[in-house]
Amino acid sequence: MVDFSLIQERNRKIQLLKRVLIGIFGVFLVSGVSYSFFADIKDISSHVRHLVKRAIVFKDGPKPEIVKTPAGFLPNFTAEYMIRYFYFADMKDSQYEDVTLASQCSANHLHHVINLLERWSGPISIAVFAPDKESSFVTDAILSMRKCWPQIRDKVTFHLVYPIGHTSDVSASTGGLEFNDCNELVDIISNFGGDDAGNYKGDIPYPHNVLRNVAIKTSATKYTFLIDIDVLPNENIRERFNQMAIKKGYYDEDFDENVVFVVPCFEMKKGYTRSLNKKHLLEDFQKGLIRPFHNESCWWCHSPEEHPHWMAIPLSRNDQSKISFNATWNKNWEPFYIGSKNVPLFDERFKQYGFDRQQQICELYTAGYIFSVLDDSFLVHDVRAFLLRLFIFKKGWKFPHVAARLEETYRNWVLFNFHYQESFLKI
Ligand SMILES: *[C@@H]1O[C@H](CO)[C@@H](O)[C@H](O)[C@H]1NC(C)=O
Ligand SMILES: *[C@@H]1O[C@H](CO)[C@@H](O)[C@H](O)[C@H]1NC(C)=O
Ligand SMILES: *[C@@H]1O[C@H](CO)[C@@H](O)[C@H](O)[C@H]1NC(C)=O
Repeated sequence: MVDFSLIQERNRKIQLLKRVLIGIFGVFLVSGVSYSFFADIKDISSHVRHLVKRAIVFKDGPKPEIVKTPAGFLPNFTAEYMIRYFYFADMKDSQYEDVTLASQCSANHLHHVINLLERWSGPISIAVFAPDKESSFVTDAILSMRKCWPQIRDKVTFHLVYPIGHTSDVSASTGGLEFNDCNELVDIISNFGGDDAGNYKGDIPYPHNVLRNVAIKTSATKYTFLIDIDVLPNENIRERFNQMAIKKGYYDEDFDENVVFVVPCFEMKKGYTRSLNKKHLLEDFQKGLIRPFHNESCWWCHSPEEHPHWMAIPLSRNDQSKISFNATWNKNWEPFYIGSKNVPLFDERFKQYGFDRQQQICELYTAGYIFSVLDDSFLVHDVRAFLLRLFIFKKGWKFPHVAARLEETYRNWVLFNFHYQESFLKI
């Protein structure tokens, strides 16, 4: 269990630390010893690290630390969560001038990674929420998936995230799940957690934004394409984006970074369709199999992607993406996009459902980002997976009942509107 008095104590110490640091900085400025300040910066940072370590007190469990990862030096904790970076990572060397596909999920959605592998030839970074013994299942599930789909080993890195009070426990791991064939493995994974609604799970809020940030921070490439685990990219997005990026100099050091590359999102209306490219998509649209994302539930959430306009833009003939138009932001918009390392991270106060992505888009907008829509790239949302997810979450650990969900959404609404106004006041 999380010990709130410890957290309060920790917050108090962090506040104190901040004041002390501001004070120290002020003294350095006032005394005009900027030279020696910079000379001492190494000492100060090791001192700060020491203080931070002392200020964050864990009852049991691992000690927080700033650790070296393939994506640079990162603290292996964030607020009340611990992170095991690169828990599984046998990836071959990736290069900086590339795009990582990033996503996050709970244990019972790990199998979606297989679909992503079919569509993405480059590196993939997945943050998995794995409190307590769930880490044992996650460990075995990933080990088994790597047996069935060996490309996972070469392409996918997995990172575990868990709350301080629910330390990752891998003691029940046996080195793999028991299954007869790979289809059965998928069933075992997707059914995990469906039958134990009575236990602790309902109490742990799902920290979408903590997980998203972990998936982004662990990308070793300049660009990251963060998506939900149950949407499918069309083929060759990465290759075509990279061609464009090289030609337009996006990988040059002096490239002006205030742009993200929006990938419009659709959903499957009925049946299953595999739109590999824009030509297929247009055909499926004609057949009524595909429609803009959230067409009924929340059409305004993706309206700036201007699906009808986008679909009317002719297919490019060459092998690289183009910018079709710059989208006009609105405060309900939650697009998926390819963004560089400089894009602000997600606000980790948003947990469970509601406004968790809109918040970050709002932040990009107020920071002056341009939303350039790619002409040939798109995502298709797997509605079946979504419905299954709601179903499983209802049975499992997401939504104990409707009232609780409303309460969460309301809490996030307050946070979003407060945040939104806060951001606006800055400009
Ligand atoms: C964080 O880093 C410290 C020091 O390397 C290590 O002892 C600890 O287990 C790490 N915690 C996690 C969750 O990786
Ligand atoms: C839903 O999609 C159809 C096309 O498939 C479109 O005609 C309709 O206007 C959309 N509805 C909304 C509310 O956007
Ligand atoms: C999008 O905006 C950028 C920056 O203002 C501009 O350079 C570019 O030409 C615009 N692209 C289109 C297709 O309007």
